[in-house]
Amino acid sequence: MNMEFNKIAGAVLGTALLVLGLNQAKNMIYHAPAPEKPGFAIEVAEKSGGEAGAGGGQVATESLGALLAKADPAKGQQQSKPCLACHVFDKGGPNKTGPDLWDVVERPIASHEGFTYSDDLKSHSSDKWTFENLNKFITNPRSFAPKTKMTFGGIKRDAARADLLAYLRTLSDSPKPLPAP
Ligand code: HEC
Repeated sequence: MNMEFNKIAGAVLGTALLVLGLNQAKNMIYHAPAPEKPGFAIEVAEKSGGEAGAGGGQVATESLGALLAKADPAKGQQQSKPCLACHVFDKGGPNKTGPDLWDVVERPIASHEGFTYSDDLKSHSSDKWTFENLNKFITNPRSFAPKTKMTFGGIKRDAARADLLAYLRTLSDSPKPLPAP
């Protein structure tokens, strides 16, 4: 036991308390008057039958399908502004820091021509960008692919993310069907 250890232990404890505090504050902000469901709620509910998990999730009452059914693509376009720093949404558009996102729904993961993806995202390439996968990735890119090159914190509010997904869906010649609520 030495000073160095104490310092590290103190820092770890401090961080843990800070995270708890932030969660608390977030709950206070977002939970009045109508409770919002936080980011991982859907996943948590599926796995544990509705109990809040260790990730700080609340009980989910709405499936992604239900959220998408009432999502607003126009609001989603507003949500998409930060994406434009790195992505183009146009058909046949160029890759920038990130790949062009035209017709991304149901597109095989890490498949856009001419873009050099991280190995982590490439390891998902047998899968597609289903609404579920997009939802997870956009909640927190690093929880989907820990070593992704996409340096974006994520959109934590379920309704805001659903709006964004509804907007991404419109970027297609033939928008894919929404999942059942
Ligand atoms: C700071 C730049 C940056 C921002 C902001 C950003 N992205 Fe990305 N995005 C990237 C990069 C880089 C990749 C490639 C990731 C990899 O290879 O790991 C990527 C990949 C993606 C992919 C996977 C595409 C594919 O072809 O597999 C999707 C979907 C995506 N981003 C959506 C979004 C959305 C939606 C937003 C806004 C909410 C957003 N991104 C904001 C940089 C960014």
